[in-house]
Amino acid sequence: MNYNIAIIPGDGIGPEVTAQAQKALDAIADMFDHHFTYTPALMGACAIDATGNPLPEETIDICEAADAILFGAIGHPKYDNDPNAKVRPELGLLRLRKSLGLFCNIRPVKAYDQLIERSPLKKDRIVGTDISIYRELTGGIYFGEKHLSDDGQVASDGCSYSVEEISRIAHLAFKEALSRKRKLTLVDKANVLETSRLWRKTVTEIAKEYPDVELDFLFVDNAAMQMILNPKQFDVILTENLFGDIISDEASVIGGSIGLLASASIGTDNALFEPIHGSFPQATGKDIANPLASILSAALLLRHLNLHKEAALVEKAVEKSLELGFTTEDLNAENPFGTSKVGDFIADFIMNPEDPNRN
Ligand code: IPM
Ligand code: MN
Repeated sequence: MNYNIAIIPGDGIGPEVTAQAQKALDAIADMFDHHFTYTPALMGACAIDATGNPLPEETIDICEAADAILFGAIGHPKYDNDPNAKVRPELGLLRLRKSLGLFCNIRPVKAYDQLIERSPLKKDRIVGTDISIYRELTGGIYFGEKHLSDDGQVASDGCSYSVEEISRIAHLAFKEALSRKRKLTLVDKANVLETSRLWRKTVTEIAKEYPDVELDFLFVDNAAMQMILNPKQFDVILTENLFGDIISDEASVIGGSIGLLASASIGTDNALFEPIHGSFPQATGKDIANPLASILSAALLLRHLNLHKEAALVEKAVEKSLELGFTTEDLNAENPFGTSKVGDFIADFIMNPEDPNRN
């Protein structure tokens, strides 16, 4: 089969890690007789440099025409500390999510046995952790009305949610829970926020359609604490945009490195796959960035295309690299491998999964 994949390498380490994910996809194409046609597209600081626009129109067209989108990372330090910057790289990603309607961001978090010793958290607390975070991605405070008073003394960001925005992701989260441990935790701040109260009401109503799923609620401050104290209590977490952004970075500590967390952003007609990490500017061009989150994002992309055997093989290759310590310095300070060496290892494993000479 032929699949059209839009590739948005983005900024910082984005191009390096995405190139490794592409190696993995090429190896899959070889092994399973698929054909992937890649169309590169610009977004972020590199797009501002080239066109003045963090999300050129052409990029949207390429993404709309693709079967799936693989994205690297976004952001450049020259914009981070400049409160007067007129355009920001991140705006490209936010606009893309909005214009493609990618409302459901799924972030799987698991404690790999091979890395259990690397997490700063106590081993017995995290062994067996397996969480699927469902983060709403196109609403809430990220997209509310922004305002800065003329004298620059007062700023505001509005936060709103509609029942429809809550319902569509809630149904997906309940369905996911049905195929897992049948537990759904809604994370909100319903003791303070009106939007959170609407989330609770709407999700409680929808829960009646899923009697086999146990639903519970947690305020986000408590959830942040529980994530570290007892992450094994979670199965599927459902939450709004900003809370999901924050608790998923927190949850990455369980896995031992943020360089391992992949994500899928799903809409009605499109889907985009990206690591949850940022553009890591200090590491750009040094061949030290961990490509595994991007490679695991490619595995999620394969699953989205219904290529489950293929996705499982990519995931197996990643587990093997963790087992053998064939990893970058964030996971292997003693004997680190470069970004592209890790990518080569993964591609090689995919092509020769049973190679007896691999040690
Ligand atoms: C993420 C990122 C983005 C977000 C930024 C780059 C806009 O942190 O995907 O988690 O906040 O959603
Ligand atoms: Mn984030």
